[in-house]
Amino acid sequence: MAIVRVPNEDRTLRDKEEITDFLAGIGIGYERWHLPEAVGDDASTEEILAMYSEQIENLKQRGGYVTADVIDVSPATPNLDAMLAKFSREHWHEEDEVRFTLRGRGLFHIHPRQGPLTAIEVESGDLICVPRGTWHWFDLCGDRTIQAIRLFQDQSGWTPHYTDSGIDRGYQSVCLGPSYVRSRPAIRP
Ligand SMILES: [Fe+2]
Repeated sequence: MAIVRVPNEDRTLRDKEEITDFLAGIGIGYERWHLPEAVGDDASTEEILAMYSEQIENLKQRGGYVTADVIDVSPATPNLDAMLAKFSREHWHEEDEVRFTLRGRGLFHIHPRQGPLTAIEVESGDLICVPRGTWHWFDLCGDRTIQAIRLFQDQSGWTPHYTDSGIDRGYQSVCLGPSYVRSRPAIRP
């Protein structure tokens, strides 16, 4: 289950219905998906996409997505810091950012045009849709591990456009999930 925080209101949401309703109010889609027991740590991209083919087809039809892939990040990933630095500054995309987390955790900060700035900590079983044009940034949690299915309307549209607002520097990337508490690294691009 995701954990949603509204830092400026000192508010934390952990209830599924409350989270879904709150996020809908700031334009963010949130769903819980059942994770089959059969998903193993060593499952290949093809096996994972096949396992979720029904759900992926459903999402493709609902959101006009044409392709899906699996991103798999761990501390052993080459150039991990450089990869993360691309997305830990406030940015937006010309297409939706749709992520279904299979393993690990991640922290989205959403900066709505209307509504409070919101941190969404996702974990396995969480599907999130950040609509195109939404200002946001993303960090990993302390174990720097995430495996997620990504859906694309057009992969070229997923290039980040930076707002250069600097707002991201005012919020710590603190995850509240089990055993992960880590601040954003001090060195920023
Ligand atoms: Fe993004």
